[in-house]
Amino acid sequence: MIRAAITAVAGFLPNNIVTNADLEKIIDTTDEWITTRTGIKQRHLENNPNKATSDMGAEAVKLLCKKRGIDPSEIDLLLCGTVTPDMVFPATANIIAAKVGAKNAWSFDLGAACSGFIYALTTGSQFIETGRYKKVVVVGADMMSRIIDYTDRTTCVIFGDGAGAVLLEPTNEDVGIKDFILHSDGNGCTHLHMKAGGSLRPASHETVDNKMHYVYQEGQAVFKHAVYNMAEVSAKIMEKNNLTDKDVAWLAAHQANKRIIDATAQRMGVGSDKVMMNIERYGNTTAGTIPLLLWDYEKQLKKGDTIILAAFGGGFTWGSVYLKWAYDGSKTGK
Ligand code: UT7
Repeated sequence: MIRAAITAVAGFLPNNIVTNADLEKIIDTTDEWITTRTGIKQRHLENNPNKATSDMGAEAVKLLCKKRGIDPSEIDLLLCGTVTPDMVFPATANIIAAKVGAKNAWSFDLGAACSGFIYALTTGSQFIETGRYKKVVVVGADMMSRIIDYTDRTTCVIFGDGAGAVLLEPTNEDVGIKDFILHSDGNGCTHLHMKAGGSLRPASHETVDNKMHYVYQEGQAVFKHAVYNMAEVSAKIMEKNNLTDKDVAWLAAHQANKRIIDATAQRMGVGSDKVMMNIERYGNTTAGTIPLLLWDYEKQLKKGDTIILAAFGGGFTWGSVYLKWAYDGSKTGK
């Protein structure tokens, strides 16, 4: 049986760092509130108006190819999970492919908000498992600062900008993506969405005046759904595959709120030493969080390590992925 294995991982973060102390100067908040309620201490926000999501994605893919020693022309398919595309069309994946010189790849975007990376990863893995393709690149990238209202303290403290990418290649070994469970429920739209800029409410003076091009989030409602669903689906994939906490080497969960991640780990019975965490440095980079975690922890990952990926986000969308790491990360990790 051919499995899809992650054979390289890379990421990119804009240079500009905004700390909680910086936010204290522009909105009514405190480092103490942000840290205790979310776990976030700082986030990277792109301050060059000429840069967009594709630039971050392209940097991640260039580094990915360099690390794996392949030419971008070898890529068969490039997927990008994002809710902050450069433009409504064409797809940001098309632009990334052009920027990196992936001239033999076809490419498309996948919109599943914070679950965008795991949706794209499992979609891309199907093209490897069927034997059709040898090299599929999966990007998760979001420039959230472009759709955040920096006068709204309930959302602006949480989000950050960043991109991550992985390369999927076929393997016959007992590693790679072994199982996944994905869900969506469009009723969740009420609690987390952007009101204008789509076909329902195209941009107008009114939509701009009413701040309808920013993230609208009912924090508590989203929190409740996130805690329950991310924890449940992560426990379910363990049950389905007869995995105990001892089998699991790592949990790589979407970095939206430290309290949600802790609740998920608890439900799975997994100790905090196995929980990948970088929310304190990057905040919530939406589709970027999971590949950025894998990039940051790559050095510690050993061949055969069981990793559970878990995400919850706008849609609502949520799910978990069970994979076995395919290589010794100590040689390539940063
Ligand atoms: O990634 C996609 C999915 N998104 C999520 O998973 C996010 C889920 N939601 C959350 O993480 C949390 O709901 C938030 C971090 C957004 C908010 O935390 P919370 O503990 O749910 O706070 P809350 O909305 O219940 O607000 C509690 C209080 C309120 O004041 P009052 O009404 O009790 O006086 C807020 O106005 O905290 C206040 N507050 C703040 N205070 C200082 C809200 N934001 C801030 C802030 N600084 N930045």
